[in-house]
Amino acid sequence: MNIIVVASECSPFCKTGGLGDVVGALPKALARRGHRVMVVIPRYGEYADAQDLGVRRRYKVAGQDSEVTYFHSYIDGVDFVFLEAPPFRHRHNDIYGGQRMDVLKRMILFCKAAVEAYYRDNGLMQYARSVLVIHNIAHQGRGPVDDFINYDLPEHYIDHFKLYDPVGGEHSNVFAAGLKMADRVVTVSHGYLWELKTSEGGWGLHDIINHNDWKLHGIVNGIDINEWNPAVDAHLHSDDYTNYTAETLDTGKRQCKAALQRQLGLEVRDDVPVIGFIGRLDGQKGVDIIADAMPWIAGQDVQVVMLGTGRPDLEEMLRRVEAEHRDKVRAWVGFSVQMAHRITAGADVLLMPSRFEPCGLNQLYAMAYGTVPVVHAVGGLRDTVAPFDPFGDTGLGWTFDRAEAGRMIDALGHCLNTYRNYKESWRGLQVRGMAQDLSWDHAAELYEDVLVKAKYQW
Ligand code: GLC
Repeated sequence: MNIIVVASECSPFCKTGGLGDVVGALPKALARRGHRVMVVIPRYGEYADAQDLGVRRRYKVAGQDSEVTYFHSYIDGVDFVFLEAPPFRHRHNDIYGGQRMDVLKRMILFCKAAVEAYYRDNGLMQYARSVLVIHNIAHQGRGPVDDFINYDLPEHYIDHFKLYDPVGGEHSNVFAAGLKMADRVVTVSHGYLWELKTSEGGWGLHDIINHNDWKLHGIVNGIDINEWNPAVDAHLHSDDYTNYTAETLDTGKRQCKAALQRQLGLEVRDDVPVIGFIGRLDGQKGVDIIADAMPWIAGQDVQVVMLGTGRPDLEEMLRRVEAEHRDKVRAWVGFSVQMAHRITAGADVLLMPSRFEPCGLNQLYAMAYGTVPVVHAVGGLRDTVAPFDPFGDTGLGWTFDRAEAGRMIDALGHCLNTYRNYKESWRGLQVRGMAQDLSWDHAAELYEDVLVKAKYQW
């Protein structure tokens, strides 16, 4: 098949979260299965080795003409086409930033130009079938009905965008149009697919989603096992960190833990459990729930390491928690791929109290590194973290059923008790997590099925 993937971010060129990881890995996995794959993303900065294809086109958005230039690279069996235009330029560190209307105009321009992006003969997108992938329904492109005028689309398209809901009233909704028009719709876990159909989890779109039930599929994301593999991880090559496998947990992972404690200026002790949190600081990820639980956590013999950026008030909260508990808490406010890898390797436990989580990748990375996840049982976290059962010695971590400090403390308490007193069970949890095949190969096969269904309209 000829497959074109259109996205606003793609690791390693530009990434703000899991979406960038997925777009960086899934196309390559599809190419490995023999497909011809092209990825189309904006050119926010200079990307090495990308050649100007010499194509210039003009698109109208909000009555304004923009010139779009197309660049190309061929990497790991995939054609990458980068769209260059003034609204994308210098956005590298802030790709979704700006006024609401500016973001919308930028994305509309990108979509219009992406539909006509091509490399050699791979440019027949106007005849192609489409699969829309939902990574997070919270971001919909909502606005007043008048928004539509700015899209410079034919008048009769307006009905696709118009939506009425009790919260927004009559409004324009880009995502609603996508859901109606796509031949198939995929979302990134089964748990999330189920939630999307409910009025609590559908964020105003559940009626449309239920109406289109026949074309929905849940496919859990894979992980890039070249990047996230403790046996070869390049971020563990320096500063006393080291690579390790399930066979060398005792020496390797232990050494990473000591290196992490040393790097962050925490007391270097092997017997104290290190609890990690990595995530965007916003309402979704629930870092405030960890802060709520801090009086209890601080009463335990534990260390806590948190990494993230985002809402200024939550960044401030992280700094305050650290200041109040200098002896056991470190908050790294910032975006650091290296620190994310090192915390994943050096921590014993990864906390994910997400209020909602379409898939979640950090719990998958954690398990690949022998770090045990404690998660709110929601969306993809529910799909991927089977609860520990001490009697059968099965399961992968702990789950709690409401995003509240009390529930999280309960689960974390059981987890810490196992860590301290049931070493064999703990080892079992680590080894089972590491033994899973979390690579993209399986997910790519499932995507292929959906693409075939879309293509032949089954
Ligand atoms: C979004 C979701 C996250 C998911 C990622 C990749 O960032 O919030 O749960 O893992 O997309 O699909």
